[in-house]
Amino acid sequence: MGFPNKGIQFAGAIGVSNCPGAPRLDVFIGRKGATQPAPDLTVPEPFDDVTKILARFEDAGRFTPAEVVALLASHTIAAADHIDPTIPGTPFDSTPELFDTQFFIETQLRGTLFPGNGSNQGEVMSPLHGELRLQSDAELARDIRTSCEWQSFVNNQAKLQSAFKAAFAKMTVLGQNTRELIDCSDVVPTPPAPASKAHFPAGLTHRDVEQACFFVPFPTLPTDPGPATSVAPVPPS
Ligand code: HEM
Repeated sequence: MGFPNKGIQFAGAIGVSNCPGAPRLDVFIGRKGATQPAPDLTVPEPFDDVTKILARFEDAGRFTPAEVVALLASHTIAAADHIDPTIPGTPFDSTPELFDTQFFIETQLRGTLFPGNGSNQGEVMSPLHGELRLQSDAELARDIRTSCEWQSFVNNQAKLQSAFKAAFAKMTVLGQNTRELIDCSDVVPTPPAPASKAHFPAGLTHRDVEQACFFVPFPTLPTDPGPATSVAPVPPS
């Protein structure tokens, strides 16, 4: 019996291509179906510390800390259903429909509230109503091994696209011989152009940044006008 995972990478690449700002992802097909789920604790948990997360990615695929940060760009189009089950579909940034750099900006802002019923395992305070912050994302944004790389994505759409595309391509063929796979990248549509400019959400400014990179100041960004931003949940798919 195989697990029904054969089309998942293809579906993922097509799905991401709907998000303005996303890179056009490569997709290889033809891998054998998995025969077993991953053993428990091999996939990082949101309450794991940075040392453990980096070690897991290193031993799973020789991913560098910079590649781990790049992979987490995926959280710019992501939401949590299970961290706080009272608020399913709570996104990790204020623009979950856009593959933009807001995730890297907003994870660097001081956390002031919990969007739902309070602290859950793997959750820390977020800066916006309706936005959930994973403990792992908060720690990677502030750790000396990853904070400058994290900040380097702020307002750098070109780097966001190229670094994510490269790290994701590496992840999708882990353990595979690409010569035995079929490169179907040509059928992936070109995603729409970026549709947002990097900004602080309304009500927040540079003063709310928890500067963690010692070497480079946080970029200057405009603040969205209007009353404090409250993020709507992502509808169930
Ligand atoms: C440090 C490693 C990572 C941790 C601890 C982590 C943790 C999580 C957690 C806890 C959720 C919310 C699940 C829920 O409550 O529904 C989530 C969502 C998500 N993550 Fe990650 N993640 C990591 C890395 C990645 C990577 C490498 C990717 C892909 C390249 C990724 C893509 C996503 C996506 C797409 C979602 C949203 C799923 C949905 O909307 O249903 N994550 N992640």
